[in-house]
Amino acid sequence: MTQKKVLTGISTTGTPHLGNYAGAIRPAIELSKTHDQAFFFLADLHSLIKCQDPELVNRSRLEIAATWMALGLDTDKAVFYRQSDIEEIPQITWLLNCVTAKGTMNRAHAYKAAVDENNAAGNDPDKGITMGLFSYPVLMAADILTFNADLVPVGSDQRQHVEIAREIAQRFNHIYGQEFFVMPQEVIDDETAILPGLDGRKMSKSYNNTIPLFLPEKQLQKSINRIVTNSLEPGVPKDPDDAHLFEIYKAFATEAQTAEYRQAFLDGIGWGEAKKMLFNLINDELKDAREKYYALMENPKQIEETLQQGAEKARIPAREMLRKLKDAVGLRNFI
Ligand code: TRP
Repeated sequence: MTQKKVLTGISTTGTPHLGNYAGAIRPAIELSKTHDQAFFFLADLHSLIKCQDPELVNRSRLEIAATWMALGLDTDKAVFYRQSDIEEIPQITWLLNCVTAKGTMNRAHAYKAAVDENNAAGNDPDKGITMGLFSYPVLMAADILTFNADLVPVGSDQRQHVEIAREIAQRFNHIYGQEFFVMPQEVIDDETAILPGLDGRKMSKSYNNTIPLFLPEKQLQKSINRIVTNSLEPGVPKDPDDAHLFEIYKAFATEAQTAEYRQAFLDGIGWGEAKKMLFNLINDELKDAREKYYALMENPKQIEETLQQGAEKARIPAREMLRKLKDAVGLRNFI
């Protein structure tokens, strides 16, 4: 067990897929087992930047909460909550906004990418860009700094955001003359699997090539059957290192299973057979969780209660942090 506090936010857009599972959910749940203090939250305030369909916003957070619970996150031990339930976070966001350099936000990559796209299309550079997108990293800094997290496990696309959180923390500490915030550190695991999707490109909602995590068994099998392969016949040796099936298999298999699968490729296994093996492997890993997932989705009450309990726990340090910060900036009671 380590004393360091880990915290990560889970974006609540779309339905979780195998890539999210292998790349983020599974490693985070593992991490929660070795850390005494783990904070996991649904970044639902962030989701409003990308999605303005209330039904979708709500559906996605329910699905994602059910997913983490079904996969065995120990919600008694880890603090599991919705960002939007922690009312201190938007207030702390404002305090941080007031020390954040606009120039830093200009350089934040999600915003920059949107501007670049507008410029490339000959549009007004601000077209379709909200203040939500522009100041996204400040809200994320508040997520992290409210709890003084030490370690922030994220994908490499989030590295800059954690750097920005440090920059904001430093500025606040400097201006108000005290170590209110510790410097959070991003944890980016290069070993974590990045799965290819149905078409061989990285599995991602934006490529529309995902395999949803909890597809019913038959559909999971169908979906796996759609993963692209080359046209080599059964009996012809195949290069495992050039096969998407192999790459996905590896992310779910033990070393011994991987070695066996590799040998099967070299021995000329047919694609149909290779897909069957992949289906069986994934199905075995997920079937219990899938059952729990559907049971939870039928029982939103249990999810709601779990998240409210999580919010209660999270709000204890959040309240204390907000109190300290308000005092520091001069928002104090008069008597
Ligand atoms: N921006 C992160 C993502 O898109 C989600 C997130 C929001 C987050 N707040 C956070 C991650 C705080 C880590 C810490 O994946």
